[in-house]
Amino acid sequence: MAHRWKNRLTDKDVTPEALWLNRRALIGGMAGAGLLTALPKAAKAETLEPNRWEEITAYNNFYEFGTDKDDPARYAGQLTVKPWTVKIDGLVDRPGDYALEDILSKMTVEERIYRFRCVEAWSMVIPWNGFELADLLEMAGVQSGAKYVAFETLLRPEEMPGVRYPVLEWPYVEGLRLDEAMHPLTILATGIYGKDIPNQNGAPMRLVVPWKYGFKSIKSIVRITLTDTQPPTSWNKAQASEYGFYSNVNPEVSHPRWSQAYERKVGEGLFAKKQETLMFNGYAEEVAGLYSGMDLKANF
Ligand code: MTE
Repeated sequence: MAHRWKNRLTDKDVTPEALWLNRRALIGGMAGAGLLTALPKAAKAETLEPNRWEEITAYNNFYEFGTDKDDPARYAGQLTVKPWTVKIDGLVDRPGDYALEDILSKMTVEERIYRFRCVEAWSMVIPWNGFELADLLEMAGVQSGAKYVAFETLLRPEEMPGVRYPVLEWPYVEGLRLDEAMHPLTILATGIYGKDIPNQNGAPMRLVVPWKYGFKSIKSIVRITLTDTQPPTSWNKAQASEYGFYSNVNPEVSHPRWSQAYERKVGEGLFAKKQETLMFNGYAEEVAGLYSGMDLKANF
């Protein structure tokens, strides 16, 4: 299947892998402890000892493994990610359980590198391996009545200690409008920096929608349902006033508790000048048309 997205960003734009691995340490408390000044340059960061991998990948959000930042790295190793099947159902011509291996055999994932700007608290450019969600949806045959796509994460209590706690309603769910889902920028990622995606980052397959905030990136997906009604999303269910269905990167719409008008680039240090957050995270040219005529303050 055709690779429709043409990368604008090059290898030179990519956030060095060591900085990506360190991102939460750089964002979080360790910054104050002097680590930040020790690691502002990629060259220095790349000299990190390999045995620090556990430490530096220990900052994730994957609440099925616990709400502490290091819980996913500590517990996600026990997640069985092979074999993996995705149920595709709802308004499709060919519903069923799709084996990830079969899907990947049709996708030439290794040739498909998507260099995307991604925003959490800081901005990064991450090289994902994966394929366009549209290709998978086309495989299943989207019916004309479908308007939305609902996603569901695995719920396997024996491997996910965090689901004992009702911090969110389980399973974790997300949703996109069909046109957002079919956009070539919307991918299912199976790899990162040329390696399999680590379990704590959502192995074996997670969503990436680069013009939206990171929390839309649902991890370890087991079900994709085409529907005619807007599906619920986990963060919206938990805190509707703070997290809307769209969650587009939009400097004009503040989160109730913080401004989203500025961002920092990972690796540039706490005292670096913040940059203005770009509308749709810099992808306005590609995606603004999806929302023409919509009030994006009401549809945040
Ligand atoms: N997916 C599931 N299933 N469970 C989660 O708790 N957290 C979300 C998102 N996807 C989450 C999830 C949030 S809040 C963020 S910021 C991103 O994953 C973090 O992805 P990363 O750990 O790869 O940076």
